[in-house]
Amino acid sequence: MTRIVRRQAFSDTTFLWEVEAPDVARAAQPGHFVMLRLHEGSERIPLTVADFDREKGTITMVVQALGKTTREMMTNYAEGDTFLDFVGPLGLPQHVGKFGHVVLVGGGLGVAPVYPQLRAFKEAGCRTTGVIGFRNKDLVFWEDKFKTYCDDLVVCTDDGSYGKPGFVTQALKEICEKDKPDLVVAIGPLPMMNACVETTRPFGVKTMVSLNAIMVDGTGMCGSCRVTVDGKVKFACVEGPDFDGHKVDFKELMARQRRFKEQEAAANQDYAH
Ligand code: FES
Repeated sequence: MTRIVRRQAFSDTTFLWEVEAPDVARAAQPGHFVMLRLHEGSERIPLTVADFDREKGTITMVVQALGKTTREMMTNYAEGDTFLDFVGPLGLPQHVGKFGHVVLVGGGLGVAPVYPQLRAFKEAGCRTTGVIGFRNKDLVFWEDKFKTYCDDLVVCTDDGSYGKPGFVTQALKEICEKDKPDLVVAIGPLPMMNACVETTRPFGVKTMVSLNAIMVDGTGMCGSCRVTVDGKVKFACVEGPDFDGHKVDFKELMARQRRFKEQEAAANQDYAH
């Protein structure tokens, strides 16, 4: 059993879990993900590591309550509670090195998994610019944590209620024009990552994305997380989740993400009753 040592709500639907998992914390690197299962009979869900503390032996994840399991996590589990399975770290870590100017872009919940990458690039001696975007002011989180490791930080809101009005892609385009990065890391919803990739493509700036493909086993056995990268089939759980965004077939991936829509809606409906 794994214990939740801290729970923090960021909004009505977004929350943080810090869980006690010393073995996972010892091995975790930026870019890794974990899989958890709440109880017997519940599904396994992948979550990207948002932070790890080797001394405390904890892993932090930021979750949005959208589907059945994440809603159950939000409503039925409190600080101090335990849940059944916690497996990780899984996937390949991000390749971190001294790359010059690195721009780290996070969209919504994607801001959380960008954070350990930002910290690692900064500690590796890079100049770091953070661009984090939210729908509105109420959804902004971790601005202070980003400030600690960013040489420059741009906070964007879609509705202009805080920071720079508009999407992260606008800020990213301006940075590419004025202060061309050597590397961009973009994490967020698929359409946002796709838009970031198309923003940097004309500038020829390598852009790494973290693909939240649908995962079942998380160990390369089921093929559910299949993505096409550079014309080749890759399994996001063992060969990713970070890939060169300019080579990813986003159109196919977005279509595949919709394939369980009906079942997901039915599970959500069931949970509501
Ligand atoms: Fe099954 Fe990746 S989740 S192969």
